[in-house]
Amino acid sequence: MNHDTIHYPVFSDQIISLLDLHPCHVVLDGTCGEGGHGKILLSFLNESGYYIGLDKDAAILRIAEKRFSTLKKRYSLVHSSYANSLAVLKSLGIDHVDRILLDLGLSMFHIQQENRGFSYQSDDILDMRFDQTSHSKSAFEIIHTASMEELTEILRVYGEEVYAKKIARLITLQRKTSLIKTCQDLSQLVLRVKPYTGHIHPATKTFQALRIAVNQELADLKKMLQEVPLLLKKGGKIGIISYHSLEDRIVKQFFIQTEGLNPVNKKIILPSAEEIKINPASRSAKFRLGERL
Ligand SMILES: C[S@@+](CC[C@H](N)C(=O)[O-])C[C@H]1O[C@@H](n2cnc3c(N)ncnc32)[C@H](O)[C@@H]1O
Repeated sequence: MNHDTIHYPVFSDQIISLLDLHPCHVVLDGTCGEGGHGKILLSFLNESGYYIGLDKDAAILRIAEKRFSTLKKRYSLVHSSYANSLAVLKSLGIDHVDRILLDLGLSMFHIQQENRGFSYQSDDILDMRFDQTSHSKSAFEIIHTASMEELTEILRVYGEEVYAKKIARLITLQRKTSLIKTCQDLSQLVLRVKPYTGHIHPATKTFQALRIAVNQELADLKKMLQEVPLLLKKGGKIGIISYHSLEDRIVKQFFIQTEGLNPVNKKIILPSAEEIKINPASRSAKFRLGERL
């Protein structure tokens, strides 16, 4: 791992072969982050190849830019949601790409960086927006404006949280008397209704659910997937790394149902025991590859 960066890219040793990348390819990396995969992909591309990196988070893209600037390769970094990939490619004068990579969710950067509000252990204000320049609601705003039914639905659907109703009820009771302002405030509140049953912190699912709601993650993914047949050249491939069943279900259905797109690997690819040992955050990663016919 590079010491200036925090995130360890999943499948980093295999990403070139998993994507079946050729040095002259044009690649769209929809989730550039700190540029972990991006650096590997860019280093492999030759002077005919081109890399386009997108991220919703402008701060994280600045780190990638710093890493890429010394590589002397052809690339563009754009602060955008991957849900707007077609428009971004059009603005760059690119019609189609050979490969797409999506490495979904959040980066370790978001967990460890101060004032982002993603980590249940921190005293940060509950923000959780990937794009801090957007006017979309933060986790704090959702917690204080959503009805009990809406909160239950967010926790049940996006967190698959069996304690959804109890947690939502407690949130709505608590907010009448005092603000639930920080990550600690929320995780302490969850602990009052949900006990520890293993190593996983009881607030993990609540934080996942709110993060997905704040960033409209599943809506963005579905919009992007609809555009894939228009983004890829014939024979082009898309590799998607997902980290929980909600995302993976959407990706799996997309590969099965989309006309003109075939799943390449029928069996999902998982990280090796060795990779999980080096990078425990990779333990829930699943890789699927699809090809445009
Ligand atoms: C798992 S990290 C990617 C790490 C990256 N592959 C690397 O190797 O450094 C996911 C990234 O996707 C970004 N992201 C999440 N949703 C996004 C969206 N709809 N559009 C663009 N970027 C998004 C996050 O800000 C985060 O930086």
